[in-house]
Amino acid sequence: MKFFVDTADIAEIKALAASGLLDGVTTNPTLIAKSGRRILEVVAEICDVVQGPVSAEVAATDYAQILREAEVLRRIAPNVAVKLPLTPDGLRACRTLTDQGVMTNVTLCFSAAQALLAAKAGATFVSPFVGRLDDVGQDGMQLIADIVQIYRNYPALKTEVLVASVRHPIHVVEAAKLGAHVATVPPTVLRALYNHPLTDKGLAGFLADWAKTGQQITDMVAV
Ligand code: G3P
Repeated sequence: MKFFVDTADIAEIKALAASGLLDGVTTNPTLIAKSGRRILEVVAEICDVVQGPVSAEVAATDYAQILREAEVLRRIAPNVAVKLPLTPDGLRACRTLTDQGVMTNVTLCFSAAQALLAAKAGATFVSPFVGRLDDVGQDGMQLIADIVQIYRNYPALKTEVLVASVRHPIHVVEAAKLGAHVATVPPTVLRALYNHPLTDKGLAGFLADWAKTGQQITDMVAV
């Protein structure tokens, strides 16, 4: 499973990239606004830090203007994935951009029917928002299960399921159990994946017992 981080905060991205576990980045208009920076500048900087796909979202809603904005965004760097709304104009633009060889991420997906259309439009990625479905009492992970099942029925569909709107580590684990290709995860949740109290307790125990040996490994020469 690929891990993307869902943020436009370059400091967070640099810190997480250093872990060696980061495969890409997703941004959206809200995250760009939160960064307080101009989209072309911050996305270019992100693309320098992370070699994998970096999603940058259009703000236009009509086909012609979406294509004009997509042309600007894709020129930022070769690893830019143009993020498009799951609307008739957004999917029409997705088809056009895919035919031009542009990496695309169709976002704001909330149903299996929508995900099927995104795959038909040739999207590189489709972003079903699990957390926002959970927020309104629907089962976000059931949507992931449905999409994965549908896509598996048609090997010709190459769209990758990019689980988005992730709220906690269980969303990541459940998405992986279902076989989703990617999870895009807020920095706090990505860091939470490491945490378990028994790991902390066990390590403390190992270090305390090691200290009693009085040994220092780097003082030794392997024989
Ligand atoms: O960036 C797309 C998606 O991950 C945003 O999710 O619900 O946290 O705004 P949300």
